[in-house]
Order: sequence, then C-alpha cells, then structure tokens
Amino acid sequence: MPPTAKLKIAVIHGPNLNMLGQREPGIYGSASLGHIDQRLGMLAGELGCDLVSCQHNGEGELVDAIQRTSIDGIHGIIINPAAYTHTSVAIRDALVAVGLPTVEVHLSNVYARESFRHTSLIADVVLGRIMGFQKDSYLLGLRALVGHLRGAS
Ligand code: DQA
Repeated sequence: MPPTAKLKIAVIHGPNLNMLGQREPGIYGSASLGHIDQRLGMLAGELGCDLVSCQHNGEGELVDAIQRTSIDGIHGIIINPAAYTHTSVAIRDALVAVGLPTVEVHLSNVYARESFRHTSLIADVVLGRIMGFQKDSYLLGLRALVGHLRGAS
C-alpha cells in the first residue's frame, strides 16, 4: 500500500453498543456511539483514510457486514464484536474468510471483569487487540491499523 493511497477502513460495532452513553458508563464511558464514530471520522481524515461504520445487534448481520468488506474494497477492519467476542464461531469464520487485517477493540479491560469475558474466539485471527481505554481504544485501534497497512507497502 503506497503511503499516499486512500485507505478504506470498516468499523464494525456489535450488540448493545448502540446504547453506549447510557449503558454502564462506569465501565464503558459516557461517549455515545455517534460520538465515537464522529471522533473516528475526524482521526480518519487526519490519517488520510475513509471510514465506513455500522452497528448490529444480530450475529448474522455482523457476519453479513464482515462479508461485505470483501466486495466493498475495504483494506482493513476495526471490530468490537461485544458479547459475541466470547461466543461466536460464525464471526471468527467470517473474519478468516475475508482475510483482511483486523484490529479487535474493547472499551473495557475484559480481563479485569468476569471470567466468561476472558475468552475471545477471534484473538488468534486478528492483527492485534486494544482494550481498556474506553472510546480511545477505537482511536488507538485505527492508528494501529493504518500504521500497519501503510507499513505493509
Ligand atoms: C465489550 C466487552 C464485552 O464483554 C461486552 O459484552 C460488551 C462490550 C467492550 O467493548 O468492552 O458488550 O466488547
């Protein structure tokens, strides 16, 4: 990827993340999903890339969104599969099928929480994982992904 080429990044948010802002703010922070997407959009502009963002509560819709990246000319994925992180073979299989560099992000530090959150079914198929920095996890994830894609030229 030449340093000047326009990168296209997909941001995929999983279930209940549409309720950010009102949902357990002590854990997830007070930023709404709209605010997070807005901040990501601003950073994407600075980094010279285009973002497409979606949120779905259903596992199948998330699989569809992952599959679509391969026909939409996407170069990399930022994904927070939320609760499906811990359970979804289908989401893992979809990520492997499209084969794009992917960063897994979480607002909370899942290892400081219940043990059922300590398992990620996608941890070994993603480029890297960023968690625990609330909305900044996404911003750090975008920087890491773009750095990787630009460095991979
Ligand atoms: C989460 C962590 C998950 O365990 C949880 O089910 C979520 C959000 C996070 O961003 O911290 O919904 O992915």
